Amino acid sequence: MCQKAEQNFRCAACGDLLEIVYPHWSITPIDAAVLRDLWRQRRTSRLPVDESGVWRFREVLPDFHDRQEIITLREGNTPLYEMPSCARIAGMQQLYAKHQGMNPTGSFKDTGMTVAASVARREGFRWVACASTGNTSASMAAYAPRGGMRSLVLIPEGKVSWGKLSQALDYGAVTCQLKTDFDGCMRVLNEVVQRMPVYLLNSVNPYRLEGQKTAAVELMEQFDWQPTDHVIVPGGNLGNSSALGKAFIEMKQLGLISALPKVSIIQAEGANPLVRTMRENGGKKLITVQAETAASAIRIGNPASWKKAVGVLQTTGGTVEQVSEIEIALAKAEIGADGIGCEPASAVTLAGLKKLVKQGFVKSGESVVLILTGHLLKDPEFTLKFHRGDLFAGTGSEKEADILKPQQRAPIVLDATMDAVIRTLKEADDQLEM
Ligand code: F0G
Repeated sequence: MCQKAEQNFRCAACGDLLEIVYPHWSITPIDAAVLRDLWRQRRTSRLPVDESGVWRFREVLPDFHDRQEIITLREGNTPLYEMPSCARIAGMQQLYAKHQGMNPTGSFKDTGMTVAASVARREGFRWVACASTGNTSASMAAYAPRGGMRSLVLIPEGKVSWGKLSQALDYGAVTCQLKTDFDGCMRVLNEVVQRMPVYLLNSVNPYRLEGQKTAAVELMEQFDWQPTDHVIVPGGNLGNSSALGKAFIEMKQLGLISALPKVSIIQAEGANPLVRTMRENGGKKLITVQAETAASAIRIGNPASWKKAVGVLQTTGGTVEQVSEIEIALAKAEIGADGIGCEPASAVTLAGLKKLVKQGFVKSGESVVLILTGHLLKDPEFTLKFHRGDLFAGTGSEKEADILKPQQRAPIVLDATMDAVIRTLKEADDQLEM
């Protein structure tokens, strides 16, 4: 473990993050109709790489000559749901959610991890590592042993939900809780990878973004290659919005779609570096913040991929918006009440959409997809606190949180009798009729 690992994912000349490009696409153009057919046919194949909703689209991914090197948990293949009651609440005629929480470890990270972890294995790394707010670490911890590798996780102590922490432990990661925030974990890890031969699997790794791109490809396939007007995505370290935007731009270049959806990025008010950067200097220079939000997945003040995200906003014509803690909590309960559910960070999408509709940026007849990034069960503590009415207890927002009461359904403790249950059922039914 003493050789030096060369893995700075930044350009030596300008310092920007590297990006994977495919010059051969313009030299030998690929026929869009042939690609669509090929991808559809693979859906009936039993080959692991075809069963993966990422590798099924391998023509738009880095080439892997030896398929045996690919580590796949059959990621991707995530559902597109109609969200009728959320549509009504947001003032839309129709609304869709693509649920990336339906991936093998419960978040969108798996789509990127299958590619970057496969690269680590191909390059012969014994160790992979990441700093994380929880989902990247859960995903990396799962993919590493599938490829015969060990994993090192750096997470902020006390700021990662138990669901995510327990995944990393169960999948066998060496899990270090550092007394700092995500940005501090990232700083320490950057120093570690300069000294030790561990492969960095954060989203600064451009292979991660290539895998995450496929969610957008799959989405367009689910819409029969008719681009939607808007795609709305949460923003943390800004890798995912960058990946999705890159995918739409590439699909347009390849002739797979005829127009670009506007990709808009939503952040929590307390973790809003991109919103401030866009509003205060038009995306020219990153404004970092000391991040604070109960949506712990996006508690990030110094996002690595900010420049790529600015490029996506500018190229697709999307916008940025920020939402309060109460707006996030309300939106999460509304997504839950549509029978879908998600983790808090994903709910910023619906909260943001409501604002974008009010501002007129999104019109009620337009087609909109919310990218739900993580599963409801990732953070049950948030959900329980919400329904018990404890989420804002002791905070400055306690009074304001009264507006959440109609959404709250705390568990009801009863005597073990039929009468007690029937009385409760009738009361609930009467309330429905009111
Ligand atoms: N939603 C969820 C559920 C996430 O876990 C993350 C990021 C995001 C949204 C934001 O995506 O960073 O690409 O802008 N989670 C990372 C992690 C940081 O460590 O799990 P982003």
